[in-house]
Amino acid sequence: MTSAVQTRTDTLYDIGDLPPLGTVPRQMYASVIRPERYGPPDQAFRTEVLDVPEVPPGFVLVAVMAAGINYNNVWSALGHPVDVVAMRNKRGEPERFHIGGSEGSGIVWQVGAGVRSVAVGDHVVLSGCRWEEDDPGVRLGRDPLLAASQQAWGYELNWGSFAQFTLVADFQCHPKPVPLSWEEAACFMLSAATSYRQLTGWAPHTVQAGDAVLIWGGSGGLGSMAIQHVRRMGGRPVAVVSSRDRFEHCLRLGAEGVIDRREFGHWGRTPPEGTEEHRTWNEQVRAFGRAVWDALGERISPRIVFEHPGSDTLPTSTFVCAPGGMIVLCGATSGYAADVDLRVLWMRQKRLQGSHYADLRECRAVTGLAARGLLDPCLGRTYTFDEIGAAHQHMHEGTQACGNLAALVGASETGRVS
Ligand SMILES: NC(=O)c1ccc[n+]([C@@H]2O[C@H](COP(=O)([O-])OP(=O)(O)OC[C@H]3O[C@@H](n4cnc5c(N)ncnc54)[C@H](OP(=O)(O)O)[C@@H]3O)[C@@H](O)[C@H]2O)c1
Repeated sequence: MTSAVQTRTDTLYDIGDLPPLGTVPRQMYASVIRPERYGPPDQAFRTEVLDVPEVPPGFVLVAVMAAGINYNNVWSALGHPVDVVAMRNKRGEPERFHIGGSEGSGIVWQVGAGVRSVAVGDHVVLSGCRWEEDDPGVRLGRDPLLAASQQAWGYELNWGSFAQFTLVADFQCHPKPVPLSWEEAACFMLSAATSYRQLTGWAPHTVQAGDAVLIWGGSGGLGSMAIQHVRRMGGRPVAVVSSRDRFEHCLRLGAEGVIDRREFGHWGRTPPEGTEEHRTWNEQVRAFGRAVWDALGERISPRIVFEHPGSDTLPTSTFVCAPGGMIVLCGATSGYAADVDLRVLWMRQKRLQGSHYADLRECRAVTGLAARGLLDPCLGRTYTFDEIGAAHQHMHEGTQACGNLAALVGASETGRVS
């Protein structure tokens, strides 16, 4: 089957330039990672000219106007813990390169056979998870995030948003929130939807009015969204950051209190019991618990702990979580081997819950909130296309701006809404 008829052109368009609607160039600029460059992101990414992919049935070619920057492509650049190119080559895909980018905004440019949910010219934002629609689990109505075929587009899957054109399944397209600029629309889907599932998807541990919620990385992408979700649901967010100049950002979004994690030194794996180091660790983790109470102005512990740093913070998260509460985690920036004192988990009946991205309903929920002005996408910085490597380098070093990050691709300047 072929996709809907389009004119093909040999013209290579500059970044910030678009061909006429209906014309698809044979080649495009892409910000590319190759295995021979794996390493620090500012060296791993390079702008190259590549062929525009063909559009299979059920798929859509989107002209990317702006792309969101996320931590997953720090991992792709490093080639660790997963070599994404080798992984795909092993399953038979020939490309020896990776085009990352797991979210973005753009214009539908070409639709494959059988696509009815979007049309050429539609303005869309793209969600970052894909699964086979005939996956047996999906057909049985199970959570698609549990499907064997579920993978992250622009990370496990190629042809992400760091290019002039990206290839997505039609169901990854959602209406662009009209009031947002292309770069605002590009930057928030992944962090907003992931945090939404963490806070609403694991009943009975959903945010209830009055619940205290501890949010690690309150000024980061996930944290900036989580603070707003918790506040909107009537909860009491307490944010943790690593510098005083990030306090204001968290307070503006609705944090009831903010804690500077540099005032504590007990991070990482738990020292062996009976040692002096363990005694110090115990004092520090208790002091951190008191800092949470101080932030709230009363001695209540968080019913939900919003986790993603992993190794450095999980022992503390487990300790400070209220009896019967939940630690919900979607990542492990500081390392994925972490200690949990199992006695605390069972004696206090706490729940340790993994959570990964979001289904389509959750993606629509957050784009709807943004469209109605109820969720600030928190765009912290907009990079140029050639700075995509630098943006990931800043993230890798922890020197990025507060909030979410984006890079312009097809949009010629910031602030354009169409
Ligand atoms: N599974 C999923 O679907 C999914 C989706 C989105 C993100 N993630 C993962 O979640 C993590 C965070 O993503 P993000 O977009 O929020 O990244 P981000 O914008 O870089 O924010 C992360 C924040 O975490 C804090 N942090 C970093 N290292 C820390 C440590 N050792 N201890 C405590 N806090 C630390 C930093 O804030 P301070 O230095 O101010 O404390 C930083 O601002 C990443 O690992 C990402 O891969 C997973």
